[in-house]
Amino acid sequence: KIYYASRTAPVNIATLKYWGKRDKDLNLPTNSSISVTLSQKDLRTLTTASCSEVFEKDELWLNGQSHSLDTPRTQQCLSDLRKYREELEARDESLPKLSKMHLHIVSENNFPTAAGLASSAAGFAALISAIAKLYELPQTASDLSKIARKGSGSACRSLFGGYVAWEMGELENGEDSKAVEVAPLSHWPDMKACILVVSDDKKDVPSTSGMQLTVKTSPLFQHRIEKVVPQRFEEMKKSIVEKNFPLFAELTMKDSNSFHATCLDSYPPIFYLNDTSKRIIKLINLLNDSVGEIIAAYTYDAGPNAVIYYEQKNESRVLGLLHAVFKSVDGWQKIDVKSLTPPSIELDPTWGSGVSRVILTEVGAGPQDSDEV
Ligand code: DP6
Repeated sequence: KIYYASRTAPVNIATLKYWGKRDKDLNLPTNSSISVTLSQKDLRTLTTASCSEVFEKDELWLNGQSHSLDTPRTQQCLSDLRKYREELEARDESLPKLSKMHLHIVSENNFPTAAGLASSAAGFAALISAIAKLYELPQTASDLSKIARKGSGSACRSLFGGYVAWEMGELENGEDSKAVEVAPLSHWPDMKACILVVSDDKKDVPSTSGMQLTVKTSPLFQHRIEKVVPQRFEEMKKSIVEKNFPLFAELTMKDSNSFHATCLDSYPPIFYLNDTSKRIIKLINLLNDSVGEIIAAYTYDAGPNAVIYYEQKNESRVLGLLHAVFKSVDGWQKIDVKSLTPPSIELDPTWGSGVSRVILTEVGAGPQDSDEV
């Protein structure tokens, strides 16, 4: 007999960045962070977890290719989930002993890995979510987020939809370092995101080693976690609760700047933004200046891709500018470009290079059941 369950999980993009660990093994952060969960119509991981007495070892297939489950982080996640299942089996003798069986995991993204989007957050969230469903665990999304966190820090935020905070916690065992909902999708559903995929040949410094270097070498980083983030965390949560876009956007851009400043302050320095990324920052500032109000926010993770947040009501103006500059790239089919507002800014014809595609998406829901297997 084979037991199986499928779940999907979303990508999230931080608006207040996690950068720095105080405990590498438990993946405990040096600061709290905030993110927006993106719609699974455009970006999601679908994972089917199965177990059976006939399986001889734990195995994982990612987008059709066999991968090792033998990393310490994944092993930690599997062992936590098995422990919860054992507790159920100990209480109820009639339950099948799934905790003793090997797992086969099949995982697929609905977006090309080549798009250069970090998929580890959706990946770990879907893995944990699918196994929790297979094991019929009673644990809450916040409980499961602590397991996802051990897989990849940012993954803990993908256990919720809408607007999410990862509270850093204080305990040494990490039991209070978990994701919580700031506001559900329904509270502020008209938040849109435009991802500009920036072409890039060079291999970035992976986030895990990048943040270790920053913690070790950047004096600016100490200032960020002590003096900047704690207050910003409270202000950003408030801006979400009050749906104050200009404030939310300003804090988001400032936090992206602050995070990349600590990267530059690391020794040797880490560069994630390239010339195209910087040009997009300037464009968004020009747009906000020309309108006289902040209607769009940029943010960048550990790579050159831009994520632009804006509200539905300003779509025509925000995409009007971005389309005018990047009209030759793939991804605009989704909208009626003729209805966009032409930009009032004078554009340089050379600005359009460096972006390979756009992904138009929006705030979305948390992990979902899936019938696909
Ligand atoms: C810049 O979650 O990928 O995207 O915990 O080592 O797996 P690990 O790091 P990861 O770091 C994400 C860093 C970031 C900011 C963020 O998502 O908050």
